Amino acid sequence: MKTSLVLSAILAAACVQVAQADTTERIKIDAGHQFFEANCQRCHSVDADRASYGPLLEKVVGRKAGSYGDYPYSDALKQANFVWTPGALRAWMEDNDVFIPGTKMRHVGIVDPTVQDFIVTYLNSQ
Ligand code: HEC
Repeated sequence: MKTSLVLSAILAAACVQVAQADTTERIKIDAGHQFFEANCQRCHSVDADRASYGPLLEKVVGRKAGSYGDYPYSDALKQANFVWTPGALRAWMEDNDVFIPGTKMRHVGIVDPTVQDFIVTYLNSQ
C-alpha cells in the first residue's frame, strides 16, 4: 500500500515534468514561428507546396547545405560541405556573410541567442 502510494506520487511528479517540458517546447516553437514569420518568411517557406524566393527550409536541420532539390544556389552554398545543425543555423542567422562569404542571402543579423534558439526550435519541428 505504502509502496504503491510512493510509486503513484513519483509517477505523478514525472507526468508534471513531462507536461512542463512539452509546454516549454510548445512555447518555443510558437515564439520561433513568429520570429520566422517576421524575419525569414518573406523569402523562405517550410511548405514544399509553396514557392519561395529562398530554398525550402522544411527538414533543414540534418540536411546538407546547398542541397535542396533543384534550387539555384550560389556557388558558395553549393560548394559548402557541411550539414545544417542547430549551431550552424545559429551562426548563419547571426551573420550569414561571415559564416559563408559570397552567398546570395541578404544579411539577416539575428544576434539575440534566445531568438536564434526559438527559430532553430521552430525549424527543427518542421
Ligand atoms: C531577403 C530574402 C531572405 C531572407 C529574409 C532570409 N533568407 Fe535565408 N536564404 C535566402 C536565399 C536567396 C538563400 C540561398 C542563398 C544562396 O544560394 O547563396 C537562402 C539560404 C538559406 C539557408 C540555406 C539553406 C540550404 O538549403 O542550404 C538557410 C538555412 C536560411 N537561408 C535560413 C534563413 C533564416 C533562418 C532566415 C530568417 C532568420 C532567413 N534565411 C532569411 C534568402 C533569404
